[in-house]
Amino acid sequence: MSRRNIKNCRLRFCVILVSIPSLLILLYNWGDELQSRSGLQDIIQYDKNSVAEILPLKTERTTSATYIPTKPFDHSAPALPRPPNRQLGIGERGDPVVLGNLTDDEEARQAELWELYGVNQFLSEKISLHRGLKEFRHPLCIERPPFNYTQLPNASVIIVFYNEGWSTLLRTIYSVLHNTPDILLTEIILVDDGSSIQNLGKQLHDYVIKLPKIKLIRTARREGLMRARLLGLAQAVGEVIAFVDCHCEVTHGWLEPLLEAISLDKTVVAIPVTDDIDSKTFQ
Ligand SMILES: *[C@@H]1O[C@H](CO)[C@@H](O)[C@H](O)[C@H]1NC(C)=O
Ligand SMILES: *[C@@H]1O[C@H](CO)[C@@H](O)[C@H](O)[C@H]1NC(C)=O
Ligand SMILES: *[C@@H]1O[C@H](CO)[C@@H](O)[C@H](O)[C@H]1NC(C)=O
Repeated sequence: MSRRNIKNCRLRFCVILVSIPSLLILLYNWGDELQSRSGLQDIIQYDKNSVAEILPLKTERTTSATYIPTKPFDHSAPALPRPPNRQLGIGERGDPVVLGNLTDDEEARQAELWELYGVNQFLSEKISLHRGLKEFRHPLCIERPPFNYTQLPNASVIIVFYNEGWSTLLRTIYSVLHNTPDILLTEIILVDDGSSIQNLGKQLHDYVIKLPKIKLIRTARREGLMRARLLGLAQAVGEVIAFVDCHCEVTHGWLEPLLEAISLDKTVVAIPVTDDIDSKTFQ
């Protein structure tokens, strides 16, 4: 598939995907700027020292008992399938939701959460963490011959968050688990950049430890997005690094074309087309 076709794939998420060699080239090119601050080596060293907590990668698949692949050796099988027979709720397929008939208390709560998170978090809490999205890919991306999964590099997905809403963060994580083939997903590295919201502490730790392939890293103090990403990078073991922003959702087939572009040319920094999620209706 040509790079142009890849560009045409409409996907609903924000992600930058780089192979390690091209990242190094990028870092090298940015080197002067970094050097003028404190030197790249120092930054990486500093980042390592600032890791307050690392949740080890769970290698044991918690879901393997319930997961039955549709056919033998199905390389496209996701890292974690959606719960079987789940009830479809509001906002499925990425449809817009407008909540009507709220009581005064609910209106107040909605306003309070909006103030805190800057999006309609009240609505987000009511949308399934496992929701699927419509087919956004360009027809050429769907009609093309299947990917040769055993030939694609695997990827570490890095998600940095700071005081993110519970449901928007979890929906990002689940969207990656549900839409990324197991064989291609090395790990998801969550980097908590000094959040202070309570449920992102022990509650998040206890939750994600039950999910497969998650590493949780916490900075000892606020580092900022780029330094937090570098911190995640220092822990990554995949062949390719994918930076996915929190409160984004990836769609079915999001990773394969990006990895293929990189596998054909290791200097490629693959950046997909992204769409916006409406902060009011989560469309
Ligand atoms: C609000 O409630 C009324 C009466 O129960 C119902 O007819 C209407 O569809 C509801 N509106 C919304 C947006 O849910
Ligand atoms: C995928 O690649 C492997 C190794 O090169 C090859 O043996 C296999 O036939 C390929 N499969 C397809 C469907 O092209
Ligand atoms: C990722 O690919 C490398 C190289 O093929 C391999 O050594 C490593 O085990 C893979 N990691 C996972 C988690 O599949």
